[in-house]
Amino acid sequence: MLTIATKFILIALFFNRCSGYDINPQFVPRYHVYPPYGWMNDPNGFCKFENEYHLFYQYNPLSSQEPGIAHWAHVKSPDLIHWENLPIAMYPDQPYDKDGVFSGSAIIENGTMYLLYTGNVNFPGGNPDHQQVQALASSTDGVNVTKYEGNPVIKGEKFQPNIRDPKVWKHGNIFYMVLGNSFDNNTRGRALLYSSPDLISWKERSVLDSSDGSLGYMWECPDFFELDGKYVLLFSPQGIEPQGDKYRNLYQTGYIVGMFDYNSHMFTPITEFKELDHGHDFYATQTILDESGRRIVIAWLDMWERNYPERDFGSTGQMTIPRVLSLTSDLRLIQKPVKELANARGSQLYSGRARGGHTIKLDEPAADIHVRASRFRDFDLALVTDNTTVLLSYSYLRGTVTLDRGGDDGIRRTQWRPSWNKQLTWQILVDSSSVELFCGEGEITFSSRFFPYSNVSIKIGENSRAEELTVYRMRRTIKLPDGSN
Ligand code: FRU
Repeated sequence: MLTIATKFILIALFFNRCSGYDINPQFVPRYHVYPPYGWMNDPNGFCKFENEYHLFYQYNPLSSQEPGIAHWAHVKSPDLIHWENLPIAMYPDQPYDKDGVFSGSAIIENGTMYLLYTGNVNFPGGNPDHQQVQALASSTDGVNVTKYEGNPVIKGEKFQPNIRDPKVWKHGNIFYMVLGNSFDNNTRGRALLYSSPDLISWKERSVLDSSDGSLGYMWECPDFFELDGKYVLLFSPQGIEPQGDKYRNLYQTGYIVGMFDYNSHMFTPITEFKELDHGHDFYATQTILDESGRRIVIAWLDMWERNYPERDFGSTGQMTIPRVLSLTSDLRLIQKPVKELANARGSQLYSGRARGGHTIKLDEPAADIHVRASRFRDFDLALVTDNTTVLLSYSYLRGTVTLDRGGDDGIRRTQWRPSWNKQLTWQILVDSSSVELFCGEGEITFSSRFFPYSNVSIKIGENSRAEELTVYRMRRTIKLPDGSN
């Protein structure tokens, strides 16, 4: 137990740090959500409440070096692009969540925001050494959150110790929840389906799908939704071995498409598991369905155990730009940045053809870059800085796209060619320490971090040619911790 004096010192340190003094802005993004001070991981509780989007995330307010004991931080936005910080929504202050207010989701019902999340409790040296239960909280004003006094709502005794990350939705009059779980002595991951009439009493309904051993030992952050007439099980498995260009990150995020029957609660997969993004840093996705029918996904633009230099700068982690999902006829997910991204666009820095070697120096480290080039030639574009370069290349012969950020394990690659009747089109979002590449209509994406200490220049490869290159500056749309822009 902490003494009162230690607690006081920690709180004082926390408020000092939250004032922003300790953040070095070098790697802080302008239009991607990031923590005001401390550590960020998974997006949580993504929802639209009284005309504003709300996003919570796993947060350690005390340090940017480590995840610590998870809290829920909170931001809100009118347009998914301008975000402002709200007070921390949930602290690990209950016996059932004292070692972490872990990931979860939101659902709006009768004007109230309900949050379902995992309470984590550790038993150091024990076997098992932790326990996870599901808990309910609510907010009527979209700022102050109250935990339900009858918590936990799911103890899940027979599924311990790894049962977490509830994602909730409503179908007809019934609430449904998908949970990530590990079984067979923690050697195989799976997704469990529950249902409830009232968000409080939950019944176990089915196992939506499970790993046969090749799909990891634990499935984190599952999500389940209907899209274009099919059902998508999106999840983040831990423990998949690399296979050639696939599964190169410590953990993956990917999806299986299939059919689902609400009467039998059975999910029938049609496709294999496919990775959703091919970059180094993309994990723990969460989606919402907004009132215009868009299925929007957001992910943690980072990865466990990365140890990036931002850790010493006071703020670790950022979120991807929210992306609209759709399904192709061959059941692949397409991701496009939400159209509201245009709200962050500043003036145009360049527009025209660009021959090999053409270089454009960015005056700020944030840009939205659009490229059109021949599908019949190789194409390279580099983000060049004094200390690091990110090279994006399309190989016509191999039909691949590669992101190479240099250093150990710098290369990520996947198959891609523009559709048969299209030219190569790329959209590249650069924001201080991140790059997101969208190929074609968004059929392939790469999300990776990089850490430049100098200005960024865009350089077209010596043997490449862009028929059209457009570069926009990007505005700051994330309010600074003190509320200013
Ligand atoms: C995924 C995850 C979740 C868990 C949370 C803890 O990154 O491990 O499964 O709820 O992070 O911060």
